[in-house]
Amino acid sequence: MANEIYLPTDHVVDRSRLPSFEQYQDMHKQSLDEPQQFWADIVNDIHWQTPPESGNFMTYNFDITKGKIFVKCLEGSLTNVCFNVLDKNVRNGYGDKIAFYWEGNHPEDYSRVTYAKLYDLVCQFGNALRDRNIGKGDRVAIYMPMILETVVCMLACARIGAIHSVVFAGFSSDSLAERMSDCKAKVLVTADGGWRGTKLLTLKDTCDEAIQKAKEKYNHEVKTCIVVAHLERVTACGKLPHDLRDLYKWNQDVDVWWHEMMEGQSNICPPEWMQAEDPLFMLYTSGSTGKPKGVLHTTAGYLLYAKATFRYVFDHRDKDIYWCTADVGWITGHTYVVYAPLANGATCVMFEGTPFYPDNDRYWAIIEKYKVTQFYTAPTAIRALMKFGDSHVKKHNMSTLRVLASVGEPINPEAWLWYYKLVGSNRCSIADTFWQTETGGHVITSIPAATPMKPGCAGYPFFGVDPVILDNDGQVVTGVGEGYLTFKRPWPGIMRTLYGDHDRFQDVYFKRFPGYYCTGDGAKRDEDGMIWVTGRIDDMLNVSGHLMSTSEVESVLTEDSRVSEAAVVAKPHKVKGESLYCFVSLNEGATYNAELVDALKRRVRDRIGAFAAPDVIQFAPGMPKTRSGKIMRRVLRKIALGESDFGDISTLADPSVLDELVKHRST
Ligand code: WTA
Repeated sequence: MANEIYLPTDHVVDRSRLPSFEQYQDMHKQSLDEPQQFWADIVNDIHWQTPPESGNFMTYNFDITKGKIFVKCLEGSLTNVCFNVLDKNVRNGYGDKIAFYWEGNHPEDYSRVTYAKLYDLVCQFGNALRDRNIGKGDRVAIYMPMILETVVCMLACARIGAIHSVVFAGFSSDSLAERMSDCKAKVLVTADGGWRGTKLLTLKDTCDEAIQKAKEKYNHEVKTCIVVAHLERVTACGKLPHDLRDLYKWNQDVDVWWHEMMEGQSNICPPEWMQAEDPLFMLYTSGSTGKPKGVLHTTAGYLLYAKATFRYVFDHRDKDIYWCTADVGWITGHTYVVYAPLANGATCVMFEGTPFYPDNDRYWAIIEKYKVTQFYTAPTAIRALMKFGDSHVKKHNMSTLRVLASVGEPINPEAWLWYYKLVGSNRCSIADTFWQTETGGHVITSIPAATPMKPGCAGYPFFGVDPVILDNDGQVVTGVGEGYLTFKRPWPGIMRTLYGDHDRFQDVYFKRFPGYYCTGDGAKRDEDGMIWVTGRIDDMLNVSGHLMSTSEVESVLTEDSRVSEAAVVAKPHKVKGESLYCFVSLNEGATYNAELVDALKRRVRDRIGAFAAPDVIQFAPGMPKTRSGKIMRRVLRKIALGESDFGDISTLADPSVLDELVKHRST
């Protein structure tokens, strides 16, 4: 069943710009053999203040044994990403086109912004930042809800050459402090608060704490905090204090209102012309050693790749209405809420709320309301919505949909089929887009009208992408087989370094298999040559599409003085994909009880964020270790799953710990 092939239907093919598999294959071949010629169309569709040198599309070294890893694309050119996504569209006559329909958490809160209006706002905010001495190369931290000002702020940074560092607004103040300090952000942009369903997010309050912690813990001073007054303009969806100011402290020396900064600002703001490899933004992603990695993307290659993937993977046409539900705090929100759609002059929906408020049909209601043609979401959301049955979907007219897409983790065939049959009425294509913060844009995916689809299978490489499956010894797996998913050469959108730590960049991604970029994911190629991504093969956890490392959570757990050792494994979860199952050993005199469990769960929420909260904290009198002292996570995974066949345990130093672990297993 899961291996069944689904072909694109006429509903998709008839309106497509890439309507056949042969055409995809020819284009893919050309993208590898003659990159310069292949990319020329899209390169020519970008405004260059100084055009790239011809004959110099990409230079790189991908082989660590030959020296430093580097990737350069379209060298010699000068451009500006903001100019391309705004000025260029306005100049081409799209000024009155809607750039975003904004839909608030409450259905009565909505607004829209045209390309011309967005251009004005971005220029004004760019000038406001320049007034505060923010310019090329400065880092701007952003901790915001899904509101239009967030887009304005990101684009204003791009316009003046500042590097934005968006921190997902679900992260705790500790996480925000660490990220702001690591990149030495000069300013922080936030909102007083926001609603998610009936839950109030007190963002400004978290920012106050983070600024304080940055100073105390990292000796880094964030001099300005810019605050959007969001709460007073939207419907309260839960309890609010009588006076909104009770939600936070106002610090005259640091805090400034967004609207006050915007007052009287001119809407003329000359763009900073950036070199091809000047940084555009950085975005932190979890690293397996705990400390987050500041993935850095640069200007020309990222823009080119974002523009191209959006054009083909969503099969975008001029009158389409595109909606990506991702939060801007993640890479999907960067590339496919902001840069890629705007680079194509698209009309997008931006949604502040949750799929479950005011009712569990909110996504479908929004698709109907705005006549959405492309819908991009995550498997965890699909699984959560499946639970409520089919009637919520059937209530709404979603006949405008053409392309459905998925991202964040492997989509299980059951969810794929529900998405395909019910949401897509058996006629939309599903693009299961595999990619990473590091890859900048889609790397393995279906192309809606061109490639066949299989439920749960990511599919084919995007243009310029050359995937290779390697076995444990680094031997290339040809034909049918399974192994590590790697890439043999760069594509324009790949990250260039980790902010301030090029050595770590080389170690993490290029050391394991010299000559290849190693994704950290496993993959298999099937008899039809299609690629299935099987999940992480490093110590990473993927909870509801949020990546985190086992060691990151373990080090938080061991901060509690009662815990002597902690080990965290992923346990499959029906909705979240994976959930955290933690084992803790305790120090002499400490007792395992409900209070300890609560305290540990709270600690993880506070230090990392609510999305990282463990489902289970189990007492472990001892950990299953090898003779060399390495914890055997494989065994712990079995305990978490409730299994009792532990496989080969001959390397286990003390097998008696297994009985103890089984005895204390959480039911
Ligand atoms: C996983 C999100 C299977 C994968 C864009 C990857 C996927 C990690 C898929 C990156 C998919 C993302 N199929 N696995 N379609 N999409 N992943 O950096 O493990 O937040 O390495 O970027 O998510 O997560 P990140």
